[in-house]
Amino acid sequence: MASTFVLLNILVLLSSLLTCSANLSFNFYAGSCPLAEVLVRNTVRSASSSDPTIPGKLLRLLFHDCFVQGCDASVLIQGNTTERSDPGNASLGGFSVIERAKNAIEVFCPATVSCADIVALAARDAVEAAGGPVVEIPTGRRDGKVSVADDVRPNIIDTDFSLDKMIDAFSSKGLSIQDLVVLSGAHTIGASHCNAFNGRFKQDSKGNLELIDASLDNSYAETLMKQCASSSSLTVSNDPETSSMFDNQYYRNLEARKGLFQTDSALMEDDRTRKLVEDLASDEESFSQRWRESFVKLSMVGVKVGEDGEIRRSCSSVN
Ligand code: HEM
Repeated sequence: MASTFVLLNILVLLSSLLTCSANLSFNFYAGSCPLAEVLVRNTVRSASSSDPTIPGKLLRLLFHDCFVQGCDASVLIQGNTTERSDPGNASLGGFSVIERAKNAIEVFCPATVSCADIVALAARDAVEAAGGPVVEIPTGRRDGKVSVADDVRPNIIDTDFSLDKMIDAFSSKGLSIQDLVVLSGAHTIGASHCNAFNGRFKQDSKGNLELIDASLDNSYAETLMKQCASSSSLTVSNDPETSSMFDNQYYRNLEARKGLFQTDSALMEDDRTRKLVEDLASDEESFSQRWRESFVKLSMVGVKVGEDGEIRRSCSSVN
């Protein structure tokens, strides 16, 4: 009896997963807006070539979109009390690139392509523009109508989180511990503000480094301390070795105790994640393959489909 119950539950879960993914599909816009993906790609490529900080911004934008209300472009809505206005999202960027892509698409196919799909495609193309893996992602997401600042902090991961808390946060979005390790590889590009990590060390009265977080390499901490000396609002590269290249250097940095955040270093400190970090550090192709899988999963977190949500006319406000 108990096993029949378990079997039934598994069948219900499987069928709901299938229904959800059945509503997103590869080339969703093939008939309604065949140029959609090309227009996003061209916009991202040209923005990234004139401003190399763009790929990092677009990739992080997807993460912050998907973890709050699902991947529904709720992060783009402007207003005093929306997600975008929350201090937790203050350092996000790339919004103007999304608007540019949306404007180009609206010329050819008005009110057809969701901002949620544009955010996901732009993040995908940003990784490619930075030399990372080419990923095919399903489309058909619809835009959310709800965007509330108070939803941000409970859903976004802070840099002081323990591994357990990170695993719980990912698991609440249907993402595994492997997805956590692989998607953290996003920190192979982009930059971060000093105040996001400068609590890991301090300068003593003689100007020497005092290490607070022992999981950080001494000489790396010293470099960071110098880079951040004049202001905590400065930014440094997430990856001190190959900062604008989307590669597996992030994992080699972790092995060398050069993770920028405590949450990065934590992946190397714990038995549950260390082995995968080491595998990814030594095998770029394996990172690319796993990235494709985990990225698609991230881009499908809590998506709205069918009659849910809407197709926004402007990405920064609901219709
Ligand atoms: C797992 C826990 C994570 C934590 C605690 C975390 C935290 C942060 C923080 C604090 C910053 C610096 C923001 C700033 O100062 O401007 C940052 C930057 C960044 N994060 Fe994460 N992050 C995490 C996971 C992810 C994931 C899953 C992705 C994407 C898949 C991602 C992509 C990025 C990118 C690309 C940047 C650089 C942004 C830029 O250049 O503007 N992060 N992250």
